[in-house]
Amino acid sequence: MNACIRAVVRTAAYHQVKVTGVIAGYQGLINGDFRELDSKSVGNIIQKGGTILKTARSKEFMLPEGRAKAAENMRQAGIQGLVVIGGDGSFRGADVFADEHPLFRVIGVPGTIDNDLYGTDFTIGYDTAINTVVDAVDNIRDTASSHNRLFFVEVMGRDAGLIALRSGIACGAEAILIPETKTHIDKLIAKLEKGWQRQKSGHVIIVAEGDDAGGAFEIARIVQEKFNKLETKVAILGHIQRGGNPTCMDRVLATRLGYEATEALLQGVTRMMAGQVAGQINFIPLQKAVKHNIQINETILEIAEIMAL
Ligand code: F6P
Repeated sequence: MNACIRAVVRTAAYHQVKVTGVIAGYQGLINGDFRELDSKSVGNIIQKGGTILKTARSKEFMLPEGRAKAAENMRQAGIQGLVVIGGDGSFRGADVFADEHPLFRVIGVPGTIDNDLYGTDFTIGYDTAINTVVDAVDNIRDTASSHNRLFFVEVMGRDAGLIALRSGIACGAEAILIPETKTHIDKLIAKLEKGWQRQKSGHVIIVAEGDDAGGAFEIARIVQEKFNKLETKVAILGHIQRGGNPTCMDRVLATRLGYEATEALLQGVTRMMAGQVAGQINFIPLQKAVKHNIQINETILEIAEIMAL
């Protein structure tokens, strides 16, 4: 997100447009917590994880009164447009706000490690998160193989399995369990049984936290009741996936989208998200970007399955 903030500020500065940073997202709009940002104030942040502007979930912004307060603070501060970096909840909020207060223009930039937005191939943070998972699972794999153990590794993704799917393929996971597809414990056990019979050295199962069969601890418990030939361990990767220095891919994506979003905002575009599809910049309505439109690529699922045979 810092790379994106930097790109927005510097693109606006190039056009001699003033930028105000809002501290802690929508709550900051309601509290009138604003900071002037110039090119210098966003120096030396492109390599840093998180956001220098901080972020928060705001219950108040979900109410019309909260949004009216935000609009009033913006009017008083002379703010004319908003660049919202976020995911599903942020975009729903942005769209309602722009609908109620059409004097302000709003552009979204996809920022979530879950990669669960329609209208962009990748969201800011996803590449960094999956690389963190891959590093962690590679390390876990050493113990899995050396001790012939069965590991259940839980990754983030409350509603989306894209972190699990991509990192699972990259780590050669024996199985990948995601919320978008039904998990069949019996099939999983049959697969483990097969691996055990051919003396496979170690198994790693990647579990998205929102899987329909439960989290990694729950699934490990159920599996162990029926299959106890391998010593079983659980690792929850948790918030290490949400931080750390961004990858090169993420820095460049964030810079490009921040630039494009700002250019569009200055040209009067509103209620759209700037995304990147097949290398090209793509604008779609915020309403369309939110996650219920996301579909898992069947072929990728099949590839993951075949690779784990
Ligand atoms: O919404 C993105 C996400 O990364 C989910 O995958 C994860 O469940 C959640 O955020 C974690 O959020 P929090 O830090 O608020 O628990």
